[in-house]
Amino acid sequence: MTIQRYRSCHCSRKTPNSKRRTLWFSLIFFVLLLLSIIYYFQTSIYQSFQEVNDSIIYKKPWNLLYKQKILVPVSINRLYDYRVVCDGQSGILNQTELVNRLSKVCKINLKGSLNINLNPPNDFQLRSSLTSKYIDLWRASNSCSIFENETLAIIISYRDREKNLKNLLYNLIPFLERQRIRNYKIFIIEQQAAGPFNKGRLYNIAFNHLMRTYKPTCVTFHDVDLIPENDQNLYSCLSLTHHPLHMSTNIHFDKKSLYTTLYSFLVGGVLTMQPETFIRLNGYSNRYFNWGGEDDDMGLRFLSKDICVQRPTTGYYYATFHSIQTRNPNRFKLLFDATLRQDSDGLNNIDRLASIKNQYEYPLVTWITVEWIEQD
Ligand SMILES: *[C@@H]1O[C@H](CO)[C@@H](O)[C@H](O)[C@H]1NC(C)=O
Ligand SMILES: *[C@@H]1O[C@H](CO)[C@@H](O)[C@H](O)[C@H]1NC(C)=O
Ligand SMILES: *[C@@H]1O[C@H](CO)[C@@H](O)[C@H](O)[C@H]1NC(C)=O
Repeated sequence: MTIQRYRSCHCSRKTPNSKRRTLWFSLIFFVLLLLSIIYYFQTSIYQSFQEVNDSIIYKKPWNLLYKQKILVPVSINRLYDYRVVCDGQSGILNQTELVNRLSKVCKINLKGSLNINLNPPNDFQLRSSLTSKYIDLWRASNSCSIFENETLAIIISYRDREKNLKNLLYNLIPFLERQRIRNYKIFIIEQQAAGPFNKGRLYNIAFNHLMRTYKPTCVTFHDVDLIPENDQNLYSCLSLTHHPLHMSTNIHFDKKSLYTTLYSFLVGGVLTMQPETFIRLNGYSNRYFNWGGEDDDMGLRFLSKDICVQRPTTGYYYATFHSIQTRNPNRFKLLFDATLRQDSDGLNNIDRLASIKNQYEYPLVTWITVEWIEQD
């Protein structure tokens, strides 16, 4: 009976009810088609992105769609075309005159290019109280201090790079003493959590912790493998107009090689800014594990918040050797929609992702260990 009725109904002209159904089906079909087209284009962009290897990426710029302050890369080859450096002359920080003025105030002789020493003596041990003898050794005879009203935190993200760290500190501490910068502390932020390294998380958790405790007025995020080579490159925020300072402008990898020219989008290496600026950027992204991506994510944050960096004319660094890190194959995918996430991924959610385990005071540094918080 029912079958018959169904059949007769089916063979007859469509009822208004079935018309509406057809309409709904075509609408749903159309929406699905549209979604799959969008999906297809997005994934093919990701794929073409991932196929490009680093050497090519660094040369080829990307295409970004600038829309209401949200940047969405639509073609992966154009990102490095963008500039985070301030336009024209304001992108360059020439501290020569300031250095000359300060030199007279404090009677310091900042001569520029330095010879760095990559062979610290055996008794230069980072966690030993005996190391305090080096502080006395390096202490300049006059007690004059510049930028006295500034509290500087130098934050170094760290895991398993003892030799690089020793080399850095053996050079950086006397370097700061030469500059008569004395109101500072060096913080080693060590990832104790097993698994891949996450620099962004370490910087973020350290920053929040220090804002509650040490209360710096200036912060420097410092890669462990970069040693400053020019003593006129002042480690301070007070010489800045409000722009952050990308200090590691010129880097070389062995004594004989030339300094590399960086792409104008880069803000990684050594980056100095006022805490307010770091808060405005919402810090680093917490989502980049292993090598690569977090600094470019930071570059995107600068772009979308309209913050530009200055680069000092004296920003020369030597990059000390370490083994190659595992690269993050996921980094391009994360960068793709980085700007959409920037206000919910960073300083404001780090307290749910990581926690400070221990803090140890040594003569040269404050050592802070960090664990991840297990997610359910
Ligand atoms: C990456 O680029 C280098 C140099 O251009 C090339 O030799 C290498 O084969 C490329 N690798 C891939 C995976 O395409
Ligand atoms: C910085 O400025 C001084 C003059 O104040 C000038 O002599 C020097 O060449 C400048 N340095 C660079 C690298 O432009
Ligand atoms: C420190 O003092 C200088 C003047 O010597 C002033 O320009 C600057 O704003 C002061 N900075 C802070 C953080 O108080």
